[in-house]
Amino acid sequence: MIHRCAAVVLLFAAVYSFEYEELKQYVDSHEGDYIKALREWVAIESDSSDATKRGELHQMMEVVGEKLRKLGGKVELVDIGTQQLPDGETLPLPKVVTAEFVDDGGNKSTVCVYGHVDVQPAKKEDGWSTDPYNLTDINGNLYGRGASDNKAPVLAWIHAVEAYKALNMELPVNVKFLIEGMEETGSNGLDAMVESKKDSFFSDVDYIIISDCGWLSRRPALTYGTRGNCYFFAEVEGPKQDLHSGVYGGTVIEPMTDLIGILDSLISPSGKILVPGIREAVAHFSDEEWRMYHDIQFDVDSYRAKIGVDRLMYNNKVELLAHRWRHPTVSIHGIEGAFSAPGTKTVIPAKVIGKFSIRQVPDMEPATVEKQVTEYLQSVFAKRKSPNKLKVKMVIGAKPWLADTKRALYEAGKAAVKRVFNVDPDLIREGGTIPVARTLEDVTHKEIIMLPIGGFDDGLHSQNEKMSRFNYIEGTKLFISYLHEVSQIKKN
Ligand SMILES: *[C@@H]1O[C@H](CO)[C@@H](O)[C@H](O)[C@H]1NC(C)=O
Ligand SMILES: *[C@@H]1O[C@H](CO)[C@@H](O)[C@H](O)[C@H]1NC(C)=O
Ligand SMILES: [Zn+2]
Repeated sequence: MIHRCAAVVLLFAAVYSFEYEELKQYVDSHEGDYIKALREWVAIESDSSDATKRGELHQMMEVVGEKLRKLGGKVELVDIGTQQLPDGETLPLPKVVTAEFVDDGGNKSTVCVYGHVDVQPAKKEDGWSTDPYNLTDINGNLYGRGASDNKAPVLAWIHAVEAYKALNMELPVNVKFLIEGMEETGSNGLDAMVESKKDSFFSDVDYIIISDCGWLSRRPALTYGTRGNCYFFAEVEGPKQDLHSGVYGGTVIEPMTDLIGILDSLISPSGKILVPGIREAVAHFSDEEWRMYHDIQFDVDSYRAKIGVDRLMYNNKVELLAHRWRHPTVSIHGIEGAFSAPGTKTVIPAKVIGKFSIRQVPDMEPATVEKQVTEYLQSVFAKRKSPNKLKVKMVIGAKPWLADTKRALYEAGKAAVKRVFNVDPDLIREGGTIPVARTLEDVTHKEIIMLPIGGFDDGLHSQNEKMSRFNYIEGTKLFISYLHEVSQIKKN
């Protein structure tokens, strides 16, 4: 797929490896500046889930815009409207930053880098060893909320562009940025924004790059799939109000008992999904896929030990990874209306809402899953002959995403990893959901690659999140090298 004329390439490769050395040295000599930049970004508490932090989130987007503007990019802060809070209050959404480093009139390919600069909540009292908003270097690890997810990767991309510019080297491809501030709470407003820019900002984009995930081990990785997620509310409603079990217990059919019964019908103790039709929809696990999984560097025992359980659902690497990435699963998350405080309370809740989700993989379709789950739960419930009322509602229906690792975009990723780390990358998938990948693909019809630089043990969303200096700095070199490799792909 990569179009090459041998002689030209030899010459070009020679010139390029020289340039790469220069770029690499530039990165190494600016490590201090890069860490300072990350410290400044981490210090901004851009928690998108906390309405009281909205001011900081707005400031964060301004800071991103300013940094890209200073680099010479054509920057826009796109207004994406407001959000409605559960209490009815409306709050302005953080603007989405777009930036363009485009060489008009040239024939270069154009890549668009997606990233986000909002973070999950974090408080020292949650069990952090350091102040989560004061980036702290301990043994080469930079601890801070948002360090790995996703501030350092976004900065690494900006620094990659900066290195070319600082050395007066032409960017090998045009680079655009799409940076949002609502990712951690569901990318509110982004879909409509992407749709509205389909024929402008995205019209000349050839490839989309997402660096919002991590490696699986110490070996660098390219990510080619993510699971989607269908999230359900199952509401069982009975008496007019909560009742006392001493007074009424034994005389009413309790909504909680009904709910536990139907939730228990979703999945067997050994992990078999019991909703008819779901397992049948899962794409066949090919021999080739099996071999790919077999080659991945992954230690089942340390994975088990890290989670802190005696036994996992599967003991061999291939099956475990397959069930983490390419099979669906049911998780039960909570029951709204249930008594959950410490102590004893003899209440019979009048209405309870069970919350569960089913991770989506090819070739499942959320609309079909919604129908399958609703019909199945209604039929299980009907067998109970309960006078209570069951309502099943799907509140999120995010599709899975899967790329072809044989495409030129992935070959370019393999070459870039080889150049910087001198190893072949693991080809991995994510068990989680990155809905923006599907949105960007569905709206723009461009190819997407996920090119992670986060470490496997970065603790995203958890206490003591970190980014290692190594991943941050070598990751910057990876992005520099990747821009070159993408420029080698023949444009169609
Ligand atoms: C772009 O490509 C066309 C056709 O291959 C060529 O004629 C033109 O000179 C190129 N422009 C630049 C700026 O390289
Ligand atoms: C961050 O932590 C360092 C080291 O503990 C401390 O010296 C510095 O004052 C802290 N900065 C802020 C802004 O809290
Ligand atoms: Zn993220």
